[in-house]
Amino acid sequence: MAPLKSENKNKVDVTHLEKVPKTLLLTLKAKFEASIDPSLSYSDSYIETIYRLINDPIKKTHLFFLLKKGIILRTKGIDYLLKKEILEREEGSTVINLACGLDTRFERMREKFQFQKWFDCDLPQVIEVRKLFFEESLENKMTAFDILDESWPLNFKGVNDPIIIIEGLTMYLDEEKIKKFFSILNKYFSHYSLILDFMSPFLIKKEWMMPVMEQFDVNFTWGASSPEEFCKYEPRLKIKDSLGFMDGFRHQVFKTPLFNILRKKKNLVLLRKG
Ligand SMILES: C[S@@+](CC[C@H](N)C(=O)[O-])C[C@H]1O[C@@H](n2cnc3c(N)ncnc32)[C@H](O)[C@@H]1O
Repeated sequence: MAPLKSENKNKVDVTHLEKVPKTLLLTLKAKFEASIDPSLSYSDSYIETIYRLINDPIKKTHLFFLLKKGIILRTKGIDYLLKKEILEREEGSTVINLACGLDTRFERMREKFQFQKWFDCDLPQVIEVRKLFFEESLENKMTAFDILDESWPLNFKGVNDPIIIIEGLTMYLDEEKIKKFFSILNKYFSHYSLILDFMSPFLIKKEWMMPVMEQFDVNFTWGASSPEEFCKYEPRLKIKDSLGFMDGFRHQVFKTPLFNILRKKKNLVLLRKG
């Protein structure tokens, strides 16, 4: 394991993070608890180190098993789609990891793959916190911006055909913001692959189904019924692959007709403009 930066004696304070930026603590805590729970088959020593170094404002909040499982399946699903995309490319890939929070995807992936460049990007207050833990290198840079700011792609002048990831954010946006995100992307990049997760419209405005959301003062505001919905934002966008929550359940019982409808529901997509 490559060393993480923080060797502070005092725990890192993250209480200034609010609303959507604060939700990075939910994914961090879920991954930490999964990593130390042998029944969840997820192991991430980087996440364990980071989590033990922060003063977690949601420490006492109980996370339900299914929520943790969902977050882990999402992360593993995105890893799977990313590996697939990397392996199809002949040259080293450039990855732009938007809304990265404190995720450790680069640290986990670099053990197996070489990247031309990997950019971890989030809002300035999050990148400030991220810099307390992660060391930049020639390969891995951190960049602060709002994905709804028209000028963000200018940070990537000279980058052709990136793989862009956006995990855990679309459900906090709305139709106008999603449209704006795609219009910025399409204006600057003639070719790209995009991996993202989305919620079903059924779950929008149903935060009450997940009591932990009370901690964050945010609403689920946007959902898509299928991966195909993303193609309306750009005629050249094609779906290369998609995955659903049920794809992560290996037990035979989940392959029976009883689960047919659920198995058809997808919540992760790999899109290609090229
Ligand atoms: C649920 S967290 C996901 C973090 C990380 N991707 C993960 O899965 O662990 C949502 C992230 O979206 C970021 N975010 C929210 N609005 C954003 C915006 N307009 N531009 C860039 N990042 C944003 C937040 O700061 C936060 O880190």
